[in-house]
Amino acid sequence: MGWKTLDEIEVRGRVVLVRVDINVPMEAGRVTDATRIEKIVPTIKDILAKGGKPVLLAHFGRPKGQVVPEMSLAPLVPELSRALGVPVQFAEDCIGGPAKRAVQALVPGEVLLLENTRFHPGEEKNDPALAASMAALGEVYVNDAFSAAHRAHASTEGVARILPAAAGRLMQAELKALEAALGSPQRPLVAVVGGAKVSTKLELLSNLVARVDHLVIGGGMANTFLVAQGVEVGRSLAEREMAETARAIIAQAAEKGCAIHLPVDVVVAQELVEGAESKVVPIAACPADAMILDAGPKTVAEVEHTFEICRTLIWNGPLGAFEIAPFDAATTAAAQKAAELTRAGKLVSIAGGGDTVAALHKAGVAEDFTYVSTAGGAFLEWMEGKELPGVAALMR
Ligand code: 3PG
Ligand code: MG
Repeated sequence: MGWKTLDEIEVRGRVVLVRVDINVPMEAGRVTDATRIEKIVPTIKDILAKGGKPVLLAHFGRPKGQVVPEMSLAPLVPELSRALGVPVQFAEDCIGGPAKRAVQALVPGEVLLLENTRFHPGEEKNDPALAASMAALGEVYVNDAFSAAHRAHASTEGVARILPAAAGRLMQAELKALEAALGSPQRPLVAVVGGAKVSTKLELLSNLVARVDHLVIGGGMANTFLVAQGVEVGRSLAEREMAETARAIIAQAAEKGCAIHLPVDVVVAQELVEGAESKVVPIAACPADAMILDAGPKTVAEVEHTFEICRTLIWNGPLGAFEIAPFDAATTAAAQKAAELTRAGKLVSIAGGGDTVAALHKAGVAEDFTYVSTAGGAFLEWMEGKELPGVAALMR
């Protein structure tokens, strides 16, 4: 694997700088989804149990190198303390005097949270001087922020090059699950890629056709592939200028032996609103004035059959406009099938990305998947086959 875990570094009596991703959604000063906070609990408890002093480095929002009071991490202290069951102290800067004094005052059994690393312009520039100032606060570094590992920042990459570094429990679990999905998967391997645009997922599609046995394409981007094959899609979302690219991906897939699955029937409507009147039509019969908003039942049956003959599933992006009923039907049905096969021990299922995770929750099956990643952008970059700087820095 090339990276160390918490089992391989000494933390007893040491100040452990832990990079976490607690970039959680908030409304009116309250956390609306604490998933990312809950997920770092095992790492911090592990460090406390071994007699280490956890000092948390984290970003919040995109303050662009300036102190933006609305993006302070201070309001997260009560939620963190509740999740961890120990007192959480706060320092108003992640380096310098305030941080040093707070580290010195830290009592064993307590946790210290440092202010938003992105308040410093050097964070996103991966400034070595900022990384050195952070590193000066502790003796070892643990990265538990897989979901920020696609950023080569001072707190995700720079510090890891200065201090003895290891992966936290969440990072470890993410890397293990992802290795099982794309590194050395049990085959056949199917990927589901949905979402609005081919243009945002081009690299992803090119990487996947070379590595997976089946590729299910859904959502708006399926329309682009249909257009590329001469299918009329009416007023549907489609990137007509991407037709050539879509044909190239289809050709690449054929060459690599990857079966591409596009919709064979679709749900169409006049408008994308809750409860809109809709009908199912074969793919060749989309009315000129209608929009494709979901995959149809024949397509869902084909997707389900593909899941049945596969051993591993990796999923990013919904099959339809899942936020608005009834256009969530295909995504929900396919997610439930994947969950059922996973529960039966027939499928290893891995999902990631904000929309995908929301869709799985909506379908009530997020708990049944083998692994659901907390990452959005990092999960996508990993699926694209890119090296994540935060992970690469742990490989020494
Ligand atoms: C995220 O929520 O995507 C991560 O916390 C990374 O944040 P970023 O996209 O602002 O770099
Ligand atoms: Mg992001």
